[in-house]
Amino acid sequence: MTKRILVLNGPNLNMLGLREPEIYGTQTLDDIRARIEARAAELGVDADVRQSNSEGELVSWIQQAGGAVGSAGDAADAIIINAGAYSHTSVAILDALRSVGLPVYEVHLSNIYRREPFRHHSYISGVAEGVLCGFGADGYLFALEVAARRGD
Ligand code: DQA
Repeated sequence: MTKRILVLNGPNLNMLGLREPEIYGTQTLDDIRARIEARAAELGVDADVRQSNSEGELVSWIQQAGGAVGSAGDAADAIIINAGAYSHTSVAILDALRSVGLPVYEVHLSNIYRREPFRHHSYISGVAEGVLCGFGADGYLFALEVAARRGD
């Protein structure tokens, strides 16, 4: 069966292209989605790229990826997540990721360790297989390759 990889993006990532381009670059989220989908097609996996500004919606999508009741069709084999600012604040997203037990790959466009100290801690890292930060959108593509290969 074709592997399904959920690629989650948190708050303000819908603003890419407009938002602090000196930090996040000029690509929009749609540009990044197109790159992820093209790479997924080459790798023979399905990538479902989503964005939400709502912590609760991200939690629900994670639960559905884990096969929560009523989530037929939304189950995934791995989660790639850039939780944006929620990375630094959200115990709820950490708990959701823990509860589903899927492999998690954490991505940040910017190098969070070169930025303000409040960005140096990520709750997501506590459950992630690996963290890619500072490589811009390439981080998603590398995470996708690793997720696609896992278990083969
Ligand atoms: C980010 C880094 C976070 O600190 C920030 O709040 C974001 C984007 C990144 O991709 O570099 O929204 O996750």
